[in-house]
Amino acid sequence: MSDVSVIGLGAMGSALARALLKSGLSVTVWNRSPAKAEALVAEGAIAATNVKDAVEASRLVIACLLVYDTVYEAFEPATDALAGRTFVNLTNGTPAQAREMAQWAAARGADYLDGGIMAVPPMIGQAEALILYSGARAAFEAHGKTLGALGAARYLGEDAGLAPLHDIALLTAMYGLFSGVTHAFALTGSEKGSAEQFLPMLTNWLGAVMTWLPDMARRIDSGDYRSNVVSNLEMQAAAFKNFIVASEGQGVSPELIAPMLQLIRKAVASGYGDADQASLVEMIRTMPPAETQRAAI
Ligand SMILES: NC(=O)c1ccc[n+]([C@@H]2O[C@H](COP(=O)([O-])OP(=O)(O)OC[C@H]3O[C@@H](n4cnc5c(N)ncnc54)[C@H](OP(=O)(O)O)[C@@H]3O)[C@@H](O)[C@H]2O)c1
Repeated sequence: MSDVSVIGLGAMGSALARALLKSGLSVTVWNRSPAKAEALVAEGAIAATNVKDAVEASRLVIACLLVYDTVYEAFEPATDALAGRTFVNLTNGTPAQAREMAQWAAARGADYLDGGIMAVPPMIGQAEALILYSGARAAFEAHGKTLGALGAARYLGEDAGLAPLHDIALLTAMYGLFSGVTHAFALTGSEKGSAEQFLPMLTNWLGAVMTWLPDMARRIDSGDYRSNVVSNLEMQAAAFKNFIVASEGQGVSPELIAPMLQLIRKAVASGYGDADQASLVEMIRTMPPAETQRAAI
C-alpha cells in the first residue's frame, strides 16, 4: 500500500506527485502514456501498470487530467475499486461537472473532494500555491496533512461545486486583468514604447486601482450604487468611447476592451448613468438566452 496515488502525470500531475514524494510520502502513479512515470519512479514513486492497480494502492486517490470527460474515461476500468477510498479530482472543470462527479463517486462508495489549483506547476509544494477544495468535509479533515504537501489547502464547503466556482471566479478576474494589460501594452507599443519601460507606471496604477475593490465589494453586497459616487457611469461611457477611437487611431484593435463599453452603455440605458461602476454587476447577473451562451464557446 502507498500513502497516495496520483492519476495523470501531465505538467500538473507530475508536479503534484513530486511534491508528495518530497514530503516523504509513498506515492503510486499512473499515466495513460507510461513514459511520463519514468522520471518520478527515479525519484521514488511506484508506477502502477494499470489504473485499477493505482487506485487499489492507496486510500487517497488524486486525479489531475485534462478535462472531466478524460477522468471518466481513465477511471472506467477502476470504478469498482473506488469504494471506501477518498477520491480527489484536481482537474479543471465547472461547478455542474463537479457536482455530477460527486454523485458519480458517491454511487461507487467513494468520498469525493473537488479541487481547484490556483498555481502553475513550479509553484506546487510551496505555500504560494493555493488549492481550493470542496465536497466531503470529513475526507478533507482526514487527508488535510497530505493535501497540505501540495500547497496551502483551503476548504470551501460540502457543495463540491464551490471549489471550481471560486477557481473560475479567480481565473476570470486574472484573464480580465490580462485583457486590459495586453491592450495597454499594445497602445504604448504603437508609438514604439518599450513594454518594460511602461511597466513601472502600469504596475503602480494597477496597485492604486486594487485599493478601490473593497468599496466595490461593499456596494455589491449592499446594493448601494448611488451614495458618494465619484466616477458615474454616464461620464465613463463618454470617456470609454475615446478609448476605442484612440485605439483605432493608433492602429490597435479594440476587440479586448469593446465589450466593456457595450456593458457600460447598457447600464446607462437601464438607468444606472448616475451610479458607480460596481453597478455593472447588475447587468450580467441575468444569464443571456441559451443561444448566446452556446455562441460564446
Ligand atoms: N498546467 C497548469 O498551469 C495548470 C494550472 C492549474 C490547473 N491546471 C489543470 O490541471 C489539469 C492538468 O493540466 P496539465 O497542465 O497537467 O495538462 P497536460 O500536461 O496537458 O496533461 C494532461 C494529462 O491528461 C491526460 N489525459 C488526457 N486525455 C486523457 C484520456 N483520454 N485518458 C487518460 N488520460 C488522459 C494526459 O495523459 P497523456 O500523458 O497520456 O497524454 C496527461 O496526463 C487540467 O485540468 C488543467 O486545467 C493546470
